[in-house]
Amino acid sequence: MKTILITGGAGFIGSHVVRLFVKKYPNCKIVNLDKLTYAGNLANLKDIEDYANYEFVKGDIVDGDFINSLFLRYTFDGVIHLAAESHVDRSIVSPMDFIMTNIVGTVNLLNAAKTMWKDNSEGKKFYHISTDEVYGSLGEEGLFTEETAYDPRSPYSASKASSDHIVRAYFHTYNLPVVISNCSNNYGANQFPEKLLPLCINNIKTLKPLPVYGKGENIRDWLWVEDHAKAIELIFHKGIIGETYNIGGNNEWKNIDLVRSLCRIMDNKLGRIQGESEKLITFVTDRAGHDLRYAIDSSKLQRELGWGPSLQFEEGLEKTVDWYLSNEEWLNNVTSGAYQKYYEVQYGKR
Ligand code: NAD
Ligand code: DAU
Repeated sequence: MKTILITGGAGFIGSHVVRLFVKKYPNCKIVNLDKLTYAGNLANLKDIEDYANYEFVKGDIVDGDFINSLFLRYTFDGVIHLAAESHVDRSIVSPMDFIMTNIVGTVNLLNAAKTMWKDNSEGKKFYHISTDEVYGSLGEEGLFTEETAYDPRSPYSASKASSDHIVRAYFHTYNLPVVISNCSNNYGANQFPEKLLPLCINNIKTLKPLPVYGKGENIRDWLWVEDHAKAIELIFHKGIIGETYNIGGNNEWKNIDLVRSLCRIMDNKLGRIQGESEKLITFVTDRAGHDLRYAIDSSKLQRELGWGPSLQFEEGLEKTVDWYLSNEEWLNNVTSGAYQKYYEVQYGKR
């Protein structure tokens, strides 16, 4: 029986990846390592927690001794590394948390894998999950390809760029069997409501202002989270060692247009008069260093491994809204306590 370590499996994307692997590969043991920060939530995995091939381990990737002991306890055949501090706004306030988890934590995992696989790395893989934000900001034209030079601009993207460089260094220097993917903005169930879409869904529901940064002109390329999870599965199994794959939705939206669409969908679902939720849109001070546009060229992944996004955005948005509206308990749990404090600091008292 193969054993795969998935880090950050209690988070948004990680929980979808864990579920996919646990259900699809019953003969493979999946170990989910997560610190359970504010963003990690075992309720995301309630439906699979009793599966025989699933195990949860609570722990911090920044703790090198702990990581080494974990790699002594298990013989991992592969690592899928998603654990990270992931929110740009938080990285502007507390960069050090991002340096520690995203850089030091990644190096701890690389060192442990290097030691574990030093005599035989045949069939092993260290898969590092990264972001399109490492490439910086696009103007009105062009797409990020795997060859685009790195130009990160926030503490978050700089920490992810650092970790990407170190992962590649371990490939070139120590022959560690690594693969990297860089993905665009994900959306779907279980995303923590600090990110634009779930934050707006929650605020529309509770009739709170919808904080749109600057003029809402910034553009993001949105991908259904389950399509990202499928891309991760494919790259984990078929991705070429040492290669990088871009993953994106080919689905660019200006923030303001996206928020307006969401308002229309939610007016329908909540039985409100069309236009009622749009009145909640409030333009607020822009994010410092706000990247104008991200857009991914994922043709390498499509051409070489046969991946493609499965869901139309309109359908995905509806599904996402339905999930949040029918998972009130989940939303109420994650928006109590510490979330209120974060919200006041980020957006002021409203
Ligand atoms: P998330 O914030 O929802 O989840 C992160 C998870 O990592 C949480 O469960 C958290 O508890 C865990 N974690 C944080 N610090 C840890 C530590 N020190 N030790 C162990 N566990 C720790 O993040 P997400 O949006 O699911 O992103 C997952 C990964 O995908 C990240 O590496 C992120 O950079 C990358 N990514 C995200 C997106 C996106 O749109 N969300 C897009 C591209 C790439
Ligand atoms: O591109 C991939 C990245 O996408 C991931 O690496 C990050 O982990 C993930 O958080 C996401 O980063 P963004 O900064 O693009 O996502 P966020 O949801 O925070 O913001 C999306 C856009 O909406 C961005 O242009 C900022 C804007 N925004 C965001 C918030 C939270 C607002 O206008 N108002 C808000 O309140």
